[in-house]
Amino acid sequence: MLCQVCLCCLFFSRGFYSCRWTESKNQNRKGRWLSLLVVTLMSLLSLCWLYICLAISNDQQNVNEVLFSTLQKWANYFLVVVIISAVLASYCILLLLFALIQVALEEQLHLHWLHKIIFCFCVIFITALASGISTKGPEEWPTVLTLLQATAPFLQFGAVGALTLLSPFVFHRFHLAKTRSKMVIAGMFLAVSAAIFLCPLLIHSPCLIEVQELPEKPKLIGHRGAPMLAPENTMMSFNRSLECGVIAFETDVQLSKDREPFLMHDHRPDFLRRTTNVEEKFIGSSFNNSADLTFEQLQTLNAGEQFLKNDPYGTVSLLSEEEKETARKEIIPSLLELLKFAKQHNTSVIFDLKNKETEKNDTNDTVKTILESGIPQNLILWLPSEEREAVKKEAPGFIQVYENETDLEKNNGSHLNVKYSEIKMKNISDLRKRNITVNLYVVNERWLFSMLWCAGASSVTTNACHLLKEMERPDWVMPRSTYLITWILVDISSALVMMALFHWTKHNLRHNADGLSNDNELEGFLTA
Ligand SMILES: *[C@@H]1O[C@H](CO)[C@@H](O)[C@H](O)[C@H]1NC(C)=O
Ligand SMILES: *[C@@H]1O[C@H](CO)[C@@H](O)[C@H](O)[C@H]1NC(C)=O
Ligand SMILES: *[C@@H]1O[C@H](CO)[C@@H](O)[C@H](O)[C@H]1NC(C)=O
Repeated sequence: MLCQVCLCCLFFSRGFYSCRWTESKNQNRKGRWLSLLVVTLMSLLSLCWLYICLAISNDQQNVNEVLFSTLQKWANYFLVVVIISAVLASYCILLLLFALIQVALEEQLHLHWLHKIIFCFCVIFITALASGISTKGPEEWPTVLTLLQATAPFLQFGAVGALTLLSPFVFHRFHLAKTRSKMVIAGMFLAVSAAIFLCPLLIHSPCLIEVQELPEKPKLIGHRGAPMLAPENTMMSFNRSLECGVIAFETDVQLSKDREPFLMHDHRPDFLRRTTNVEEKFIGSSFNNSADLTFEQLQTLNAGEQFLKNDPYGTVSLLSEEEKETARKEIIPSLLELLKFAKQHNTSVIFDLKNKETEKNDTNDTVKTILESGIPQNLILWLPSEEREAVKKEAPGFIQVYENETDLEKNNGSHLNVKYSEIKMKNISDLRKRNITVNLYVVNERWLFSMLWCAGASSVTTNACHLLKEMERPDWVMPRSTYLITWILVDISSALVMMALFHWTKHNLRHNADGLSNDNELEGFLTA
């Protein structure tokens, strides 16, 4: 006998799935399996996409900056994408759940055309965004692999759980099937189970280590200061990053018309527009080169209001009224101002020269400014590679930082600064064993920071120094032996539960065969 709750479930799931509230005409078996296959694939696709979004969330600022540059308008595009993706994934999974209920009750599966349209939209949405990533930021893909490393042990436990929960549906089909289909079902089920049970053999994560082996916590470097707590690349921002105990300020240098080095990230077509009020101040003129304006003109621009208005990280609400007032008054600082501040606080400075076309001249004027500022030379982490040899001669005390492993080895360097996705976790440990300082940029999420911590990174450049500062240990560290025992136990318990379910479904079917047919029972329920 079917319980009232089951009937109720069936009623709603059929209604949602096919917009038919009563039993419809016969559907062949193939149609039903095709329908189930489509819904399953869509659920997996939307879940995978949501996982990719989770990985990329570390770089959401890059995504928004690229889209600002393309669409000329600021918005939190990334957040919008995440919300749409989450809604689509929940929808697909709900549909899958209903489909499974109907399959279990030997019901028909007529996917309503509206669902088909939404599926098409879902596929187009994901394909468009994925190809957008491939063209605009292919370096995001390795981040997904890093997230896999961070989550693999837990994903496996989840997969074992899901397999166990779904197994009764398979067993039910199995018991009803004829001998040939029985073999196909059994073969497929065993293959999937074996893959899920045994995949930990392939899982490598830097955090599968003994707690005593955990390296020292990576130091923090403020990316454009503390851009979540103050407008990026302003003195307020560098000041606030000091509260996180950063060991260095990361910034971007360009030269004005009168050859004054100043701090500004965006250059060429987007120069000034994202972070300052240039469009209000110089109506009608468009500047796309730092040499278009004198430093005096640059200083008339406001560099803080856009931060309060755009709220690029959704963090403005964390600022006190006083801090907002300070932010509102920020202007573009000169490099000299930052150097004096860094000297006063014994903090290093690392920067990019943004205008590659004029790098030779920019290098000369920048080095001159640094030497005149009186900051100790060993506080300068010199990154631009174009004129490195000349800089080494002129300022032998600068610490030379290389942008890739090849360049580091060629110059026998001792400092490396790379994007976190461009280096293997294992290489980080190997370089650290040779006492090479390894800095990774830009690391904002806890999971990523945890991975790099386990791998032994010396420091990371971050937007979120206030969050990473609070972490006392990585999100998880597990000795390999503990993990081994855990997954074996989980696998064994799941296998036992599934055996019990196998017998239970068999017993249940026999029992039901004596009772009324499901269809009659449902019709009775609907007309009652
Ligand atoms: C500056 O900091 C370094 C370590 O970061 C330390 O060795 C040095 O003594 C400090 N210098 C001053 C003047 O405080
Ligand atoms: C490494 O960096 C140097 C200097 O920036 C560059 O010329 C070279 O092409 C880079 N090599 C690789 C493999 O990226
Ligand atoms: C790295 O530095 C430590 C201490 O500073 C030293 O004991 C060790 O020998 C160094 N290792 C290498 C490979 O230079």
